[in-house]
Amino acid sequence: MSDNRPIGVLDSGLGGLTVVKEVIRQLPNEDVIFIGDEARMPYGVKTHEQIISYTREMVQYLISQNVKLIIFGCNTATANAYQKLSQEFTVPMIGIIKPGAKEATEVTKSNHIGVIATESTVNSKSYNKIIGELNSQIDVLGVPAQKFVAIVESDEANSKEAQTEIETTLRPFKDSEYDTLILGCTHFPMLKKQINNYLPDTKLVDPAVSTVVQAKNYLMKNDLLTDNKNRTIELHATSGITEFSKLAKRWLATDIKEISLVNIGGNDERNNHSN
Ligand code: DGL
Repeated sequence: MSDNRPIGVLDSGLGGLTVVKEVIRQLPNEDVIFIGDEARMPYGVKTHEQIISYTREMVQYLISQNVKLIIFGCNTATANAYQKLSQEFTVPMIGIIKPGAKEATEVTKSNHIGVIATESTVNSKSYNKIIGELNSQIDVLGVPAQKFVAIVESDEANSKEAQTEIETTLRPFKDSEYDTLILGCTHFPMLKKQINNYLPDTKLVDPAVSTVVQAKNYLMKNDLLTDNKNRTIELHATSGITEFSKLAKRWLATDIKEISLVNIGGNDERNNHSN
């Protein structure tokens, strides 16, 4: 048995493309549909209710595209909305936090794990809770790095300002007992080189890798993989399509069938929450 329906991936913006890239690498025959809510990002400074409501609209959009599985390629959406939405809908969903947290517990030798994420994800303490359940001996330090999101979205990863911001934000982890750092926001793997330059001895965990391993295992176990030889990638964003398209093509460096604008929320709501 096989299932030709696409895998859906959602994120507040560009960052989810780091997850799409992993899907492309680990699941070479699967069609992928991605949605990034550029119109209402950053999610990391929104309220719990707003994040649930925006994420619900992305889930509904992906369901309308007949996906067989939804990967929450957004830590902030996972922290705030995964639990609620996975009860509301019957489509299978995978969140990005648990697999990344588990991997980090296997990587650390010092039992000190750092997490950088959006303000909302850090405040939710989602990583701390899951790591604490897996191993109560491990100390977790969460540091908000909300400004990294804007750096990535504005394609300024190599700027002097980005370097200063990275050094200032990551100072608590420099020459410290934190030997492992979770990139707890899907935008951050796009700054991996710069983070690694500043913290060369720290092991960086990108939760996308273990999340897609989990997705693959799920599809295998349930006979839902496909052997499609000509898989397609479709990317959708809710605004800023020109900039999105430029960065997406560069980041994914693969054939993309379609990149287009979609409207998932009312325009009024968008205008009210556009910061
Ligand atoms: N990329 C998102 C995450 O993984 C959040 C970025 C934002 O919209 O603030 O948390």
